[in-house]
Amino acid sequence: MSVTVLVGTQWGDEGKGKIIDVLTRDVDMVVRFQGGNNAGHTVEIGNEKYVLHLVPSGIFRPEVVNVIGNGLVVDPIALEDEMRDLEKRNVCVKNVKLSDKAHLIMPYHRLMDAFKESRRAEGSKIGTTNRGIGPAYCDKADRSGIRALEMLDLEKFEARFRAHCAEYNAVFTAGGFQTVDADAEWIKLKNAAKYLQSYIEDTVLCVNKMVKAGKNVLFEGAQGALLDIDHGTYPFVTSSNTTSGGACTGTGLSPRHIEEVYGVMKAYTTRVGEGPFQTELDNEEGVALRKAGNEFGATTGRPRRCGWFDAVASRYSCMVNGVNKLALTKLDVLDNLPLLRICVAYEIDGKRYDEMPSNSELLYKVKPVWENWEGWQESTCNARSWDELPEKARKYLTRMAELVDAQIGIISVGPKREQTFEV
Ligand code: IMP
Repeated sequence: MSVTVLVGTQWGDEGKGKIIDVLTRDVDMVVRFQGGNNAGHTVEIGNEKYVLHLVPSGIFRPEVVNVIGNGLVVDPIALEDEMRDLEKRNVCVKNVKLSDKAHLIMPYHRLMDAFKESRRAEGSKIGTTNRGIGPAYCDKADRSGIRALEMLDLEKFEARFRAHCAEYNAVFTAGGFQTVDADAEWIKLKNAAKYLQSYIEDTVLCVNKMVKAGKNVLFEGAQGALLDIDHGTYPFVTSSNTTSGGACTGTGLSPRHIEEVYGVMKAYTTRVGEGPFQTELDNEEGVALRKAGNEFGATTGRPRRCGWFDAVASRYSCMVNGVNKLALTKLDVLDNLPLLRICVAYEIDGKRYDEMPSNSELLYKVKPVWENWEGWQESTCNARSWDELPEKARKYLTRMAELVDAQIGIISVGPKREQTFEV
């Protein structure tokens, strides 16, 4: 396997955590490279279900090193909570490494997220996860952010936190919004910093060392390509580069080393939050898909919007990511449906588009050009190889792969570790 990047090809929630957990059988290190605790990676092992937000999905294999790279924005209080929860459930966290260069999400960032969203007009709201992701990346780009390494000197850290807090509170007060209680938040921050100190290091060095030693390293993307700050459905996106290029800038590894890009793709499409969704089923069929696929956000619990597979958007995202292998997930959710649809082109204002336009305003006007597929109407949950899948399911998957110009590498037919096989 060597050096592999795994990314979501849609709007997130493609089942990346599960695929990564399966791939980590052969992996020495798993590295997160962007985003923050807006992510929710669900992993089911036996009867236990875990939802990870910041800790990489290699954590369930004790020998795997798990790196939180410089490209993330890390809420120290949330990370402490997540690691302590894992420890309580007897998951060893000693192999977690936190980049000294990762930027921190501070309590005022979380509040700013809510403040900004509350001021956006209807139709312009992003529907963020309210975790402070955007405001923390704003400070990073503004060169005023606080980085993880600053937690190593508590005195200076406190002074920086309080100074920033005062600045933000002035803005909140002027806007008639609630303010951050600096004293109360500092106690939580100090405790989190003390807990995390021993995990902080220059992870660029350890990632490069692993790669140089020929070890297997897996880069774990969060969210999906259509939420990428540059290539997604802007402005209805997250604030980081969710596409494979982010794996380099977000960890300090040269692109020269990346050998394989896995794109995780649901057999249909979902989206949480606001923004265009070209193949959305805003009807009974969408409700049925949500129910069958248990499509509720792992981080916020929000119901996910559901729709058919969009080959136009997915092809675009496979191209940007350079996906050479697909991990196709949640096939079993389609088991009972008599008819399936794939969107193969868009019609906008009477004109046909074979590629996804950059302007979200146009995406709202899309009339999908459909291809209809007969459903297989039998269970795929117990299939453990390509040959064990119904013929109609194989045809549907083959068409998906052909349309996005990538090869099928893995298929997942349920939430359990064992419900996954290579093709
Ligand atoms: P933010 O990342 O919290 O700023 O939210 C921006 C947009 O990305 C919103 O539409 C969120 O619902 C969406 N989003 C962020 N993280 C995830 C994720 O892990 N899965 C799916 N959608 C996400």
